[in-house]
Amino acid sequence: MNSPPNQQRVMLVTGSRKGIGAYLSQYYADRGWHVAGCSRSPAEWGHPDYNHYQLDVGDETAVVAMFADIRKRYGRLDAAINNAGIATMNHVMLTPGATAERIFRTNTLGTFLIAREAAKLMVPRQTGRIVNFSTVAHPLNLEGEATYAASKAAVESLTRIMAREFSPWNITVNAIGPTPIDTDLIRGVPADKMARLIERLPNKRLGTFEEVSHVTNFFLAPESNCITGQILYLGGV
Ligand SMILES: NC(=O)c1ccc[n+]([C@@H]2O[C@H](COP(=O)([O-])OP(=O)(O)OC[C@H]3O[C@@H](n4cnc5c(N)ncnc54)[C@H](OP(=O)(O)O)[C@@H]3O)[C@@H](O)[C@H]2O)c1
Repeated sequence: MNSPPNQQRVMLVTGSRKGIGAYLSQYYADRGWHVAGCSRSPAEWGHPDYNHYQLDVGDETAVVAMFADIRKRYGRLDAAINNAGIATMNHVMLTPGATAERIFRTNTLGTFLIAREAAKLMVPRQTGRIVNFSTVAHPLNLEGEATYAASKAAVESLTRIMAREFSPWNITVNAIGPTPIDTDLIRGVPADKMARLIERLPNKRLGTFEEVSHVTNFFLAPESNCITGQILYLGGV
């Protein structure tokens, strides 16, 4: 693993193997950050300023061990992007409890554990940025996405309350709620259902990776010190 020079800013991106997380990791590594990423499988890409941890964000012991390593290796954490997430498309009456548990474990418990440990690492430097991932499926109350939307509603609540609890140390906590973006997460959604969903959006198209980094840039900017506890949806929702 590479160790950044002491002055280099360090960011953690969860779910960095593919999709939005891989994009954001490469985007910030290209812009001078040292990025630590994690996912259950090894990363499918590499960068001189990127290190990968293989873990499940819902596994508390593994998450705590990763942060112990980040603390030892870098001694700082400037930003954490809580991107790891999974979805399911199912009518409530057809959703097994095990599926609901998996969704909440990754999306909600994972976000909670990563934010908790990130904040502890940010406290000594009295500054930090945490960005969580919600979804438009929550405000749109999308049928078939009850457990997914509910797990992200909980992420929004965590975001607002952590923003208050972490503010004494100038740690901001915000969330982005993307519109559908072409990744593996939505590839299983039937085309007619996706078309109906997009029809409900003010912006009648898919979102892009660049639109996500536009929002994360806004939350991460030094000028955004006063922006905390906010949920920013894409697509006009
Ligand atoms: N794409 C969209 O349309 C859309 C819309 C709204 C919100 N979002 C949100 O955006 C985020 C990223 O989604 P995406 O579209 O990029 O999904 P994706 O392409 O399916 O990627 C998900 C990433 O999360 C990792 N991951 C999943 N479960 C994990 C776990 N338990 N522990 C650690 N890593 C885990 C995956 O790697 P491994 O499989 O190796 O673990 C993968 O790198 C999610 O939070 C999602 O809810 C996406």
